[in-house]
Amino acid sequence: MGSKWSPPADYKTRPVVVLGGGVLGRRIAACFVAAGYHVRIRDPSEQSRTAAIAYIKENISSFLALTNGRTKEGTYEGVEDLTTAVKDAWIVFEAVPEILSLKESTFAELERTAPADCILATNSSSFKSGDLLGKVQEATKARVLNTHFMMPPQAIVVELMTSGHTAPEIFPFVEARHREAGLHPVTALKESSGFIFNRIWAAIKRECLSVLAEGVSTPEVIDSIWKEQYGSAVGPCEMMDGVGLDTVEHIEQHYVEERKISRAPLEYVQQNFVANGRLGLKTPDKGGLYPPPKPGTQTKLLFLNVGLNEPLGQKSSSEYMHGGEVLSVIAEHSGGRATALISGQALPDGIDTFDGRIYWTNMGVPSENDGTVQSAKLDGSDIKTLVPVGEVHTPKQCHVDREGKKLYFCDREGLRVFRCNLDGSEREVIIQTGDWKTEPEKVKDQRNWSVSFTCVGVTISRRLNKFFWTQKGSPKGSEGRIFSASLELPNGSTSSNRPDIEVVQEHLPECIDLEMDDEAGVLYWTDRGEVPLGNTLNRKQLIGETPAAEKTLGRQIIAQGLGEGIGLKLDKALNCVYVADMAGRVWKCSLDGGLKEKIHEGPTGCYTGLTFVKV
Ligand SMILES: *[C@@H]1O[C@H](CO)[C@@H](O)[C@H](O)[C@H]1NC(C)=O
Ligand SMILES: *[C@@H]1O[C@H](CO)[C@@H](O)[C@H](O)[C@H]1NC(C)=O
Ligand SMILES: *[C@@H]1O[C@H](CO)[C@@H](O)[C@H](O)[C@H]1NC(C)=O
Ligand SMILES: *[C@@H]1O[C@H](CO)[C@@H](O)[C@H](O)[C@H]1NC(C)=O
Repeated sequence: MGSKWSPPADYKTRPVVVLGGGVLGRRIAACFVAAGYHVRIRDPSEQSRTAAIAYIKENISSFLALTNGRTKEGTYEGVEDLTTAVKDAWIVFEAVPEILSLKESTFAELERTAPADCILATNSSSFKSGDLLGKVQEATKARVLNTHFMMPPQAIVVELMTSGHTAPEIFPFVEARHREAGLHPVTALKESSGFIFNRIWAAIKRECLSVLAEGVSTPEVIDSIWKEQYGSAVGPCEMMDGVGLDTVEHIEQHYVEERKISRAPLEYVQQNFVANGRLGLKTPDKGGLYPPPKPGTQTKLLFLNVGLNEPLGQKSSSEYMHGGEVLSVIAEHSGGRATALISGQALPDGIDTFDGRIYWTNMGVPSENDGTVQSAKLDGSDIKTLVPVGEVHTPKQCHVDREGKKLYFCDREGLRVFRCNLDGSEREVIIQTGDWKTEPEKVKDQRNWSVSFTCVGVTISRRLNKFFWTQKGSPKGSEGRIFSASLELPNGSTSSNRPDIEVVQEHLPECIDLEMDDEAGVLYWTDRGEVPLGNTLNRKQLIGETPAAEKTLGRQIIAQGLGEGIGLKLDKALNCVYVADMAGRVWKCSLDGGLKEKIHEGPTGCYTGLTFVKV
């Protein structure tokens, strides 16, 4: 290494070039478009160039969201010819397929065609950049490095690594440019196959396979310990099943060839799984480390994303208010991935299922009389409007009375609790705490809701012949109350003067949704009030003797630390309660005193109602 390295001249106005518009190449390109650069994607295939451009166009907002406030992206184009693409580049990322000879000749060609101050980066993880320099001169080697991207925009760590010859001054410069894209760059201090994290992760996978091969434990136990220790939504065995055991085998093969390590974990995965076509989630009928699921044993959680944690300023306010979704996730070893069943909903809040259909409410704009109640088949098709705009103000939790075949739902700003048939007919008001048209102060001025009129959560008890609802009071105001009234309106009374209303619990931080275990006589609810008593999952024994644990508070806190917990559903078979929160997380809270376990987390999720079906 001769003279000291200095940054490429005028790099701000020179292009970033990505060679290869594949899965990773187009993502690297999008990162630097978001950072404001002009980016050229060079790919010999026209189809690949077009797909990469379409990817950036459609997904640029997710990359801009990483840059913490940048709203104006750079420009981008697809280019066929290499020489044209790189002639004035300040950095070239090569993301061509992982074939040694192809990568080597790419570097030789870049040495000839790119400017002499251009930084040359490879995305390879199988090859150290030092392995790719067989055909280039000594001086060029000083500006070659590895940049190993995980999977932006979801996984934003980038590991930088020397080729063994890279000028040390390159690293702080390249790190700073990656930070402009909102990425998290780290630099390995020397060359290493597998960089930093992949080596550690490979060791964890390898040791899990050894534990299984030696019969020391099971995938279920390994994953449960992992999740409990690290608060992670998925465990290592689920992740291996998720990426595919053939890929796990391929990576381990590489390490076995490079290092003097035991072949036993590799042979275990080859002989017991890959050879039998048991690759994990991609072979659902054969399974992987986990056996294929038996019908009826998996829990399909259905929950609502109200859409309010989406990056601001990139959608019109109408798109923003109609960005709600019905999502689903399999609670058992699915890798926590959620699928959208229904989208385009106006602030959805409450959800329940019955007899092959989903029922949910859309609040609409909370200050407008524009809520709706909807229903659809479990796969999201055949959407029907049960209560149209104009008939309900701001509908919240809904609950199907399975025996009576009725749908109950609260109307927050409408100051009511409703009940109707499952097709929306015979709709009746069963509780009325005020008239939102003539008593707007009961709705609008949240600061002095010293008496709470707004109805939020609802459920029923057939055993007690009652329904229950919450009036949450002002935010974090410790004015939350839970009420009950009988399923039949007493003779001679109306929804606003019925004499059978009882207070079940009061002075709650901010109680929200309700769930009744009729068999055990226990009422459960979420509370989004102030910690430590709020942001909790609670229970109260309504039938039989009050347990000792409820004596102090008149209720028992089962789980704490929810991020504005809303939806909840009891799973008797697994003795747990699932909870969704507005911080975009779905929790499984054990009723055996165990910790809560995170099933799923959506980076921009904001979740409200939740229910499930067994599949
Ligand atoms: C590098 O990018 C190419 C093209 O997108 C891809 O096929 C390859 O898997 C990537 N390599 C790594 C280690 O991500
Ligand atoms: C945008 O990203 C999503 C998620 O990765 C992907 O499914 C979609 O195909 C992308 N859009 C285009 C046009 O490639
Ligand atoms: C709320 O406070 C304002 C100002 O103090 C008062 O005029 C109004 O009557 C109050 N509303 C209720 C429902 O107490
Ligand atoms: C209410 O009135 C109906 C008919 O008038 C009667 O059959 C019923 O027993 C009454 N219910 C109660 C609780 O009094």
